[in-house]
Amino acid sequence: MSGTTEIRSDVFWLGARHFDLKIFDELFPTRNGTTYNAYLIRGEEKTALIDTVKAPFTREYLQNVERLAGDRGVDYVVVNHTEPDHSGALDKVLERYPQATVVCTRPGENFLRQIFNHPMKTHIVSEGEEIDLGGRTLKFFLAPYLHWPDTMFTWLPEEKLLFSCDAFGAHFCSETLFDDETPDFSGEFTFYFDSIMRPFKEKVREAVAKVENLSIDMILPSHGPLIRRDVQAKIDAYRRLSAAPQDTGRKRALLLTLSPHGNTRDMAHYVREGLESQGVEVEERAIITVENQELRDLIESTDALIMATPTINRDAPPPVWQALSLLTTVAPRGKLGAVFGSFGWSGEAVKMVEERLAGLKYNLPVPGIHFRFKPTEDDQIACREFGRKVGQALQG
Ligand code: FEO
Repeated sequence: MSGTTEIRSDVFWLGARHFDLKIFDELFPTRNGTTYNAYLIRGEEKTALIDTVKAPFTREYLQNVERLAGDRGVDYVVVNHTEPDHSGALDKVLERYPQATVVCTRPGENFLRQIFNHPMKTHIVSEGEEIDLGGRTLKFFLAPYLHWPDTMFTWLPEEKLLFSCDAFGAHFCSETLFDDETPDFSGEFTFYFDSIMRPFKEKVREAVAKVENLSIDMILPSHGPLIRRDVQAKIDAYRRLSAAPQDTGRKRALLLTLSPHGNTRDMAHYVREGLESQGVEVEERAIITVENQELRDLIESTDALIMATPTINRDAPPPVWQALSLLTTVAPRGKLGAVFGSFGWSGEAVKMVEERLAGLKYNLPVPGIHFRFKPTEDDQIACREFGRKVGQALQG
């Protein structure tokens, strides 16, 4: 379902409402669907579109563009971000308005070429560049990784509007458009940050620094309600959510254990002693007792991730893989890893988990160790030595 709303004189929302969406991108559950917010700005001389919509909504979107652009047509299509939920209608827009110039970043142009597999007329913007529409100015701020390397923000200074694409968005669909007329969506706002922005916290901090001194009456994201109630609160929320973990002055290791029969946890006891002998602060947690959200926080606040896994049915058990799946959703403070565990008769898990960590660019300073069933006294010594070496690498 699409529609248009005049936000300010000659500035229109013409997005699409996707009420019945249950899982965004087949990855993130949505309790209230989502929206694909797109915009049209008419200057005295030129008309610009800001982003488009997901492909299934193209027909209605294009009808709205034609109605609002009228005989003047479209001069620019600003692509703040090339992901298909925002560029899905771009091909049809350019078919209808072949004279239009696509305005994007350099990575954006590269992605568009590969998404559409044909050339298009583009203008690559640089940081702070402006385009004059006639009485209306588009000013661009590069915001890489919010959400892809291609992303930028567009600011309309005369109206104090910031078109932020994915940033400051939420997967929340309602009949209303603005945040001050929409039911509370703060949970969706935070969940969205955790799902989309959290892996790129450093980049979020850089982007926030670029916009926090701009004059902004409204933030107009590409998903969810348009923000006009308390713009500063949303910027503050992004600053808080993306804050760097506090440095305690001591190296910290997160020791995650899974131990059906207690043997791997026994090993962890001695590994921990070895780590602590090197002055490392150890947070030891049983994987199954930690919720995903807390686990993300723990991973982000430690310098080393040490996985203690048994082997069951020739594999690491599902809770171990689930914990590892969170690694790409966070910005770890350190990327040092180590793996150990007890096994009964085959013992593949330690190697498999090591390979997974290496694949995620973790540095593994000490080869993993594994022992059969209950650690012997010699095994205990080896575990202590393993922990000591990891601790040494961490301090080094
Ligand atoms: Fe809403 Fe990264 O696309």
